[in-house]
Amino acid sequence: MPKPGASESAANPYAEGRGPTEWNEGRHGVGPWEGPLPDDPRYDPELLTDGDHRNVVDAYRYWTREAIVADIDTRRHPLHIAIENFENDSNIGTVVRTANAFAVDTVHIVGRRRWNRRGAMVTDRYQHLMHHDTVGELIEWAHDHGVTVVAIDNTPGSVPLETAELPEKCLLLFGQEGPGVSAEAQDNAVMTCSIAQFGSTRSINAGVAAGIAMHAWIRQHADLSRAW
Ligand SMILES: C[S@@+](CC[C@H](N)C(=O)[O-])C[C@H]1O[C@@H](n2cnc3c(N)ncnc32)[C@H](O)[C@@H]1O
Repeated sequence: MPKPGASESAANPYAEGRGPTEWNEGRHGVGPWEGPLPDDPRYDPELLTDGDHRNVVDAYRYWTREAIVADIDTRRHPLHIAIENFENDSNIGTVVRTANAFAVDTVHIVGRRRWNRRGAMVTDRYQHLMHHDTVGELIEWAHDHGVTVVAIDNTPGSVPLETAELPEKCLLLFGQEGPGVSAEAQDNAVMTCSIAQFGSTRSINAGVAAGIAMHAWIRQHADLSRAW
């Protein structure tokens, strides 16, 4: 854990049992480092001089992007996320941001390379992303890496996510607004899981569905004592 800059009011925010969004200035960031500059190579000289206003937890204040990614890499979950991107990319940013929050291993984008990064709120810089042209390529990748594919959609024959046991080394595969998860994806998944709904809408937003499903995996497999 880095020594908080003197401009952060509390000497040790962790000791007070507060969460990462309650520590000090939060979204406004921190000003220039006060006192002698540390020589730890994880720190970014420019951030130390100018202040750090990025959307990162306080533990990573003043760290270089590379140092942050390397640190998350030491404790990423064996959870992969994939989203089909043949038509509509508007939810991918949300999916990437949530995947970052849960220290997902990699977000796989299937289909078009381009997607709107706005919703990711810069979290894509700290998240491993991989592109696959086709569902077939993704399935082959998962097979080669021993990752079990679970499709997420509310199609007939799906298993309720609320009671399903998700594999630990798992790839959760989401569809798009409109078509939903492709038939090829479902055919190659060990199961398709649905999120229980009770209202009038046929489905929920894919980004929201991804958040719910990722958290279902977290509840089953994550070591909660390691959360921020
Ligand atoms: C807006 S949905 C579209 C498809 C949906 N099957 C339909 O009939 O309208 C887009 C994606 O969000 C996810 N999704 C939405 N609602 C879901 C639910 N209740 N259970 C599981 N996944 C859901 C799935 O990955 C789905 O492919």
